[in-house]
Amino acid sequence: MTGPGKKKGPAKSGGGGNRATGSAPGTSRQMTVKVKTAKRRKLSSTLWLQRQLNDPYVHEAKRQGWRSRAAFKLIQLDERFHLLKPGLRVVDLGAAPGGWTQVAVQKVQAGGKKGGSVVGMDILEWDPVPGAITLQGDFLADDAPDRLKEALGGPADVVLSDMAAPTTGHPSTDHIRIIALVEVALHFALEVLTPGGTFVAKVFQGGTEKTLLDSLKKNFTTVRHAKPPASRQGSAETYVVATGFRGAPEPPVEE
Ligand SMILES: C[S@@+](CC[C@H](N)C(=O)[O-])C[C@H]1O[C@@H](n2cnc3c(N)ncnc32)[C@H](O)[C@@H]1O
Repeated sequence: MTGPGKKKGPAKSGGGGNRATGSAPGTSRQMTVKVKTAKRRKLSSTLWLQRQLNDPYVHEAKRQGWRSRAAFKLIQLDERFHLLKPGLRVVDLGAAPGGWTQVAVQKVQAGGKKGGSVVGMDILEWDPVPGAITLQGDFLADDAPDRLKEALGGPADVVLSDMAAPTTGHPSTDHIRIIALVEVALHFALEVLTPGGTFVAKVFQGGTEKTLLDSLKKNFTTVRHAKPPASRQGSAETYVVATGFRGAPEPPVEE
């Protein structure tokens, strides 16, 4: 798959085909760039910059016109699990700067004849992605589910969450915040997914909490964990991929 093609101009609204491939970027750029430490730059920033400059996915994302290297993670998850097809309706949570949204737009042919659509939300301000509805807002805010449902205008086939709260450096606090995001995303997915639908969420090392995993297993026919090659080996990040939503439970009948 080629990206939206920065060099060839922005992606057309309406997707434009199923062209993304997540194969590892070429190895033509083998030279390692070293970043000198500067007085005003922290060591962690220097290391981050050095990693960015030497990361083939960063270069390839830029070359292909994806807004983030994260785009390759969704492309690779999709290659393995076949999640995104023309005509599907997708919600993308924690979407900025928009790499996953771009991939989803292309894969479902959003705005095209088959009725595919993509709605993305992020707490940060982000540039609109052609073909998608882009919302800014805190997904944990009370009004977020309704805003998303209104933008969707019906059920969703796929709910994606790549949300990650900024880390505090305090491991148990970070863990709790991440699990909270996934739990709320799952709660939302159970409300909006159509039977047979898919939920994909970023989780961290140790996989998924038992209660969360139990809920996923109860509500989906298949639950798997996957770390796509584009996810940095050193990072604790992994993804839970739940497919075959069994459908919303029947509300209790009032006597
Ligand atoms: C790893 S980035 C997502 C990258 C994106 N998938 C892409 O391909 O460009 C995680 C995002 O989650 C967002 N996020 C974290 N907490 C959020 C919240 N409560 N509501 C909405 N977005 C949130 C962050 O602002 C950040 O942009």
